[in-house]
Amino acid sequence: MDVAELSEKNQSNMLHGEHIITRLTYISRYNKDNPNGEVTRILAQAQQNNEHNGITGALVFNHNYFLQSIEGARPVINELLRKLVKDERHFSLQIIECREIEQRHWNKWSMKYLIPSDENKGLALKFSTSTQFNPYLMSANQIMMLIDTLSELQEQEEKEASTKKKSWFAIS
Ligand SMILES: Cc1cc2nc3c(=O)[nH]c(=O)nc-3n(C[C@H](O)[C@H](O)[C@H](O)COP(=O)(O)O)c2cc1C
Repeated sequence: MDVAELSEKNQSNMLHGEHIITRLTYISRYNKDNPNGEVTRILAQAQQNNEHNGITGALVFNHNYFLQSIEGARPVINELLRKLVKDERHFSLQIIECREIEQRHWNKWSMKYLIPSDENKGLALKFSTSTQFNPYLMSANQIMMLIDTLSELQEQEEKEASTKKKSWFAIS
Protein backbone atom coordinates (compact mmCIF):
# COMPACT_ATOMS: atom_id res chain seq x y z
CA MET A 1 0.00 0.00 0.00
CA ASP A 2 1.53 3.36 -0.98
CA VAL A 3 1.33 6.59 1.04
CA ALA A 4 -1.67 7.95 -0.92
CA GLU A 5 -3.62 4.69 -0.41
CA LEU A 6 -2.73 4.60 3.29
CA SER A 7 -3.88 8.17 3.80
CA GLU A 8 -7.15 7.41 1.92
CA LYS A 9 -7.72 4.35 4.14
CA ASN A 10 -7.07 6.39 7.29
CA GLN A 11 -9.49 9.07 6.09
CA SER A 12 -12.17 6.49 5.35
CA ASN A 13 -11.65 4.94 8.82
CA MET A 14 -12.07 8.39 10.35
CA LEU A 15 -15.34 8.87 8.46
CA HIS A 16 -16.62 5.66 10.03
CA GLY A 17 -15.60 6.75 13.52
CA GLU A 18 -12.71 4.27 13.81
CA HIS A 19 -10.73 6.81 15.84
CA ILE A 20 -13.40 7.17 18.55
CA ILE A 21 -13.06 4.77 21.48
CA THR A 22 -16.33 3.55 22.93
CA ARG A 23 -16.94 1.48 26.06
CA LEU A 24 -20.04 -0.69 26.28
CA THR A 25 -21.07 -2.48 29.45
CA TYR A 26 -23.94 -4.96 29.52
CA ILE A 27 -25.38 -7.78 31.60
CA SER A 28 -27.05 -10.98 30.41
CA ARG A 29 -28.34 -14.31 31.64
CA TYR A 30 -26.42 -17.50 30.87
CA ASN A 31 -28.32 -19.99 28.69
CA LYS A 32 -27.40 -23.30 30.34
CA ASP A 33 -29.41 -25.27 27.77
CA ASN A 34 -27.33 -24.20 24.78
CA PRO A 35 -25.08 -27.14 23.71
CA ASN A 36 -22.31 -24.73 22.55
CA GLY A 37 -22.50 -22.64 25.69
CA GLU A 38 -19.42 -23.73 27.64
CA VAL A 39 -17.93 -20.59 29.08
CA THR A 40 -14.36 -21.67 28.24
CA ARG A 41 -15.40 -21.81 24.60
CA ILE A 42 -17.06 -18.36 24.74
CA LEU A 43 -13.97 -16.93 26.42
CA ALA A 44 -11.55 -18.47 23.90
CA GLN A 45 -13.60 -17.07 21.01
CA ALA A 46 -13.80 -13.64 22.66
CA GLN A 47 -10.05 -13.53 23.35
CA GLN A 48 -9.11 -14.56 19.84
CA ASN A 49 -11.57 -12.21 18.07
CA ASN A 50 -10.88 -9.28 20.36
CA GLU A 51 -7.16 -9.40 19.89
CA HIS A 52 -7.73 -9.32 16.14
CA ASN A 53 -10.33 -6.50 16.37
CA GLY A 54 -8.48 -4.29 18.88
CA ILE A 55 -11.12 -4.83 21.58
CA THR A 56 -10.15 -4.94 25.25
CA GLY A 57 -12.38 -5.64 28.21
CA ALA A 58 -13.50 -7.81 31.08
CA LEU A 59 -16.00 -10.62 31.40
CA VAL A 60 -17.46 -11.47 34.80
CA PHE A 61 -19.27 -14.81 35.09
CA ASN A 62 -20.89 -16.62 37.98
CA HIS A 63 -22.90 -19.59 36.60
CA ASN A 64 -26.11 -17.61 36.09
CA TYR A 65 -25.09 -14.19 34.82
CA PHE A 66 -22.61 -12.45 32.58
CA LEU A 67 -21.36 -8.95 33.06
CA GLN A 68 -19.12 -7.69 30.28
CA SER A 69 -17.36 -4.43 29.55
CA ILE A 70 -15.88 -4.04 26.06
CA GLU A 71 -13.95 -1.13 24.63
CA GLY A 72 -12.64 -0.36 21.17
CA ALA A 73 -13.37 1.61 18.00
CA ARG A 74 -17.02 2.71 17.87
CA PRO A 75 -18.01 0.83 14.66
CA VAL A 76 -16.26 -2.31 15.91
CA ILE A 77 -18.09 -2.23 19.25
CA ASN A 78 -21.41 -1.69 17.45
CA GLU A 79 -20.72 -4.66 15.17
CA LEU A 80 -19.96 -6.86 18.20
CA LEU A 81 -23.12 -5.66 19.94
CA ARG A 82 -25.18 -6.85 16.93
CA LYS A 83 -23.56 -10.30 17.24
CA LEU A 84 -24.00 -10.43 21.01
CA VAL A 85 -27.72 -9.65 20.77
CA LYS A 86 -28.19 -12.57 18.32
CA ASP A 87 -26.03 -15.01 20.34
CA GLU A 88 -28.26 -17.70 21.87
CA ARG A 89 -25.72 -18.71 24.52
CA HIS A 90 -27.12 -15.88 26.62
CA PHE A 91 -30.35 -13.88 26.77
CA SER A 92 -32.09 -10.84 28.33
CA LEU A 93 -29.12 -8.64 27.39
CA GLN A 94 -29.43 -5.23 29.06
CA ILE A 95 -27.11 -2.35 28.27
CA ILE A 96 -25.82 -0.78 31.46
CA GLU A 97 -23.64 1.94 30.00
CA CYS A 98 -22.38 3.00 26.59
CA ARG A 99 -20.04 5.96 26.39
CA GLU A 100 -17.10 7.44 24.58
CA ILE A 101 -13.86 7.32 26.55
CA GLU A 102 -10.61 9.22 26.17
CA GLN A 103 -8.48 6.20 27.00
CA ARG A 104 -8.92 2.51 27.55
CA HIS A 105 -9.38 1.14 31.00
CA TRP A 106 -8.23 -2.38 30.07
CA ASN A 107 -4.98 -2.16 28.20
CA LYS A 108 -3.27 -5.44 29.01
CA TRP A 109 -6.01 -7.91 28.20
CA SER A 110 -7.98 -8.79 25.12
CA MET A 111 -10.64 -10.13 27.50
CA LYS A 112 -10.06 -10.38 31.22
CA TYR A 113 -12.00 -13.16 32.97
CA LEU A 114 -13.23 -12.45 36.49
CA ILE A 115 -15.24 -14.79 38.72
CA PRO A 116 -16.95 -13.69 41.91
CA SER A 117 -15.57 -16.46 44.19
CA ASP A 118 -16.21 -17.58 47.78
CA GLU A 119 -13.28 -15.41 48.91
CA ASN A 120 -14.66 -12.25 47.37
CA LYS A 121 -18.41 -12.86 47.79
CA GLY A 122 -18.44 -10.09 50.41
CA LEU A 123 -18.07 -7.77 47.42
CA ALA A 124 -21.58 -8.62 46.24
CA LEU A 125 -22.86 -7.38 49.59
CA LYS A 126 -20.68 -4.30 49.42
CA PHE A 127 -22.12 -3.21 46.09
CA SER A 128 -25.72 -4.44 46.40
CA THR A 129 -28.36 -5.37 48.93
CA SER A 130 -27.86 -9.12 48.54
CA THR A 131 -24.99 -11.58 49.19
CA GLN A 132 -25.81 -13.29 45.89
CA PHE A 133 -24.13 -11.85 42.81
CA ASN A 134 -27.04 -10.66 40.66
CA PRO A 135 -26.15 -7.77 38.33
CA TYR A 136 -29.85 -7.26 37.48
CA LEU A 137 -30.32 -5.91 41.01
CA MET A 138 -27.42 -3.47 40.76
CA SER A 139 -27.18 0.11 39.51
CA ALA A 140 -24.76 1.08 36.73
CA ASN A 141 -22.44 2.71 39.28
CA GLN A 142 -22.39 -0.38 41.48
CA ILE A 143 -21.68 -2.59 38.46
CA MET A 144 -18.76 -0.43 37.30
CA MET A 145 -17.31 -0.36 40.83
CA LEU A 146 -17.64 -4.13 41.14
CA ILE A 147 -15.77 -4.72 37.86
CA ASP A 148 -13.00 -2.34 38.96
CA THR A 149 -12.66 -3.95 42.38
CA LEU A 150 -12.60 -7.51 41.03
CA SER A 151 -9.96 -6.50 38.55
CA GLU A 152 -7.79 -4.83 41.22
CA LEU A 153 -8.09 -7.91 43.45
CA GLN A 154 -7.10 -10.19 40.63
CA GLU A 155 -4.15 -8.03 39.66
CA GLN A 156 -2.96 -8.06 43.28
CA GLU A 157 -3.24 -11.86 43.42
CA GLU A 158 -1.31 -12.21 40.18
CA LYS A 159 1.40 -9.86 41.41
CA GLU A 160 1.75 -11.86 44.64
CA ALA A 161 1.86 -15.13 42.69
CA SER A 162 4.55 -13.84 40.34
CA THR A 163 6.66 -12.51 43.24
CA LYS A 164 6.47 -15.94 44.85
CA LYS A 165 7.44 -17.58 41.59
CA LYS A 166 10.41 -15.25 41.17
CA SER A 167 11.85 -15.92 44.61
CA TRP A 168 11.53 -19.67 44.04
CA PHE A 169 13.51 -19.34 40.82
CA ALA A 170 16.17 -17.28 42.63
CA ILE A 171 16.73 -20.05 45.21
CA SER A 172 16.97 -22.92 42.72
C1 LIG B 1 -21.36 -13.66 27.22
C2 LIG B 1 -20.71 -13.60 25.86
C3 LIG B 1 -19.62 -12.76 25.67
C4 LIG B 1 -19.01 -12.67 24.41
N1 LIG B 1 -17.96 -11.83 24.24
C5 LIG B 1 -17.41 -11.71 23.02
C6 LIG B 1 -16.32 -10.82 22.82
O1 LIG B 1 -15.85 -10.13 23.73
N2 LIG B 1 -15.80 -10.75 21.55
C7 LIG B 1 -16.27 -11.49 20.51
O2 LIG B 1 -15.76 -11.37 19.40
N3 LIG B 1 -17.29 -12.35 20.69
C8 LIG B 1 -17.87 -12.47 21.91
N4 LIG B 1 -18.91 -13.35 22.08
C9 LIG B 1 -19.34 -14.15 20.93
C10 LIG B 1 -20.23 -13.34 19.99
O3 LIG B 1 -21.55 -13.31 20.49
C11 LIG B 1 -20.24 -13.98 18.58
O4 LIG B 1 -20.60 -15.31 18.68
C12 LIG B 1 -18.87 -13.90 17.95
O5 LIG B 1 -18.34 -12.61 18.03
C13 LIG B 1 -18.99 -14.30 16.46
O6 LIG B 1 -17.72 -14.35 15.97
P1 LIG B 1 -17.44 -14.72 14.44
O7 LIG B 1 -18.10 -13.64 13.63
O8 LIG B 1 -15.95 -14.75 14.34
O9 LIG B 1 -18.08 -16.09 14.23
C14 LIG B 1 -19.51 -13.46 23.33
C15 LIG B 1 -20.62 -14.30 23.55
C16 LIG B 1 -21.20 -14.38 24.79
C17 LIG B 1 -22.38 -15.30 25.01
